[in-house]
Amino acid sequence: MYHIPVMLKETVDALKVANDGIYFDGTLGGGGHSFAILRKGGRIIGTDLDQEALEECENRFSDFSGKFILKHGNFKNAEQFLKEEGIDAIDGAVIDLGISSHQVDADYRGFSYRYDARLDMRMNNESGFDAEYIVNNYDEKKLADVIYTFGEEKFSRRIAANIVKERAKQPIVTTGQLVEIIKKSVPFDPKSHPAKKTFQALRIEVNGELDGLKEGLESIFSMIKPGGRFSVISFHSLEDRIVKQTFAMLATGCICDKSLPVCVCGHTASGKLIGKIKPSKEEIDFNSRSTSATLRVIEKL
Ligand SMILES: C[S@@+](CC[C@H](N)C(=O)[O-])C[C@H]1O[C@@H](n2cnc3c(N)ncnc32)[C@H](O)[C@@H]1O
Repeated sequence: MYHIPVMLKETVDALKVANDGIYFDGTLGGGGHSFAILRKGGRIIGTDLDQEALEECENRFSDFSGKFILKHGNFKNAEQFLKEEGIDAIDGAVIDLGISSHQVDADYRGFSYRYDARLDMRMNNESGFDAEYIVNNYDEKKLADVIYTFGEEKFSRRIAANIVKERAKQPIVTTGQLVEIIKKSVPFDPKSHPAKKTFQALRIEVNGELDGLKEGLESIFSMIKPGGRFSVISFHSLEDRIVKQTFAMLATGCICDKSLPVCVCGHTASGKLIGKIKPSKEEIDFNSRSTSATLRVIEKL
């Protein structure tokens, strides 16, 4: 299985899919959410940074020929992709952030600390920037900051110092080498793999996952027709904070200082918050990767 879609029913039901409505899926992955939208009669224009995801979806959607368009690229460029296809507005959108199970489970992609592979971690294999570059070129402070900020790893300084020490002897080119360095840097914890947080941090840095996320979400939302909905799934607090704040701002009217007698900002709400949903216990039991997911939905006014 390429990827088990998270909160599939909740995410797609929230969109209230209309027959022949156009839906943007910015993170196609294994196509689980898009496939459900197609089955409900919707049309899909979708993107993914990963060519392997596009190939998977091309095959999976073959019964829906003419009802979908797949684009290689970053969902932050949604407006451009839609305009290229002559689409001025969409009926809804879905973003399911992070990586697919396929990416983690593919032993040659370097996303997983479970397999020894080249230190890659690129979603987009056309990008020249990978984990090997970061680990061998960032200075110690920058490395520690990345590991602390994106991995919330409290031993980030020790890990960064040991990376710098080891790379002076020989370049660090495999996940196996990196795992050994991390193991020597953090105390043993029976509940969590020592490299989990550092690998998450490097992956976020390699793929610029948080860069321009707010602007990307706003841009997709701007293309949605009144009454249309936007479902976004995030997997860690850094992402969810951005989604929450972006949606809150879109759903807020005047943002003037409360002491002002009249509004001078001219800010008006363009959306209505529909809700925040967490996976059910049954889903978590069935798919443990859903555990940390949060779905947020907003409707265009
Ligand atoms: C969690 S998976 C999506 C799974 C999908 N919803 C499904 O049901 O199979 C995330 C996917 O988004 C892609 N991705 C992550 N950030 C992206 C971005 N900024 N632009 C385009 N694709 C992105 C990844 O390559 C990955 O394939």
